[in-house]
Amino acid sequence: MAETQERMHPSFINVIRQKERVRENLSGIRHKIGVYSAKGGVGKTTVAVNLAFALMKKGFRVGLLDADIDCPNVAMFLGIEERMEAKIPLRPVEKMGVKVASTSLLVDDMKKPIIWRGPIITKMLGDFFENTDWGELDYLIVDLSPGTSDAPLTIMQLLELDGFIIVTTPQRIAATNSIRSGLMAKRMSVNLLGVVENMSNGGVSKNTEEVAAALGVEVLGSIGLNQSFNTYSDSGKIPVIEDSSVMEAYSSIIAKLVA
Ligand SMILES: Nc1ncnc2c1ncn2[C@@H]1O[C@H](COP(=O)(O)OP(=O)(O)OP(=O)(O)O)[C@@H](O)[C@H]1O
Ligand SMILES: [Mg+2]
Repeated sequence: MAETQERMHPSFINVIRQKERVRENLSGIRHKIGVYSAKGGVGKTTVAVNLAFALMKKGFRVGLLDADIDCPNVAMFLGIEERMEAKIPLRPVEKMGVKVASTSLLVDDMKKPIIWRGPIITKMLGDFFENTDWGELDYLIVDLSPGTSDAPLTIMQLLELDGFIIVTTPQRIAATNSIRSGLMAKRMSVNLLGVVENMSNGGVSKNTEEVAAALGVEVLGSIGLNQSFNTYSDSGKIPVIEDSSVMEAYSSIIAKLVA
């Protein structure tokens, strides 16, 4: 190993060492699942939040990492007022027993824009992975930002995930971007756990079936377009906690995931 490292460019060695530190820091976590799509607004955060709380309701120990560094929304969806202390190790705040970490919990005003270039976002992601004290968890759910550049790329390189759930909607434009997202993950050797259709019109659309076929994975389930979600998120309420039919939809996704 030492000899191989001598022949490598220093930046590669840094990535390998950082990956080792991340692995060590997250060694108390049994499963790490990313929720991803290159397309914005398809419901990545909504799926990540509901999946985390559905897993908690089933008795698992769960963490939720908002890896959307510059436009973090997880804490707003959850109506969290508390803040994380800006000191190492970072300690997540808890809502109903789910541990939550986000850059938005480190700023004094969520409306303040976080205007950072790629390298700083990459640095911040690394800091979260290396320095957050999650303790022992059954599941860490990671909510990604859209796109196929800096932030998702860093997550694919640094985090040893069980895999990604790809979120899509019945629209063709979402399907095309979902295939693009899945192909990027495959290129980066990240497993795909399946596809979730969000904002569904009832049943799984043909476009989503095409996404699953193109990526060689199964459709884990579909979540209907639900007007109440906007009211829930405005008041920090979580659909799976409020509505048993939404919990049922997530239960069947979890059953497939666990299988
Ligand atoms: N099944 C649903 N029914 C109705 N509204 C939904 C549903 N899922 C998500 N939404 C709403 O759609 C909007 C976008 O959702 P969300 O923020 O989860 O998407 P995102 O993919 O995380 O977006 P971004 O790319 O900006 O991170 C939110 O207002 C959310 O409340
Ligand atoms: Mg989001």
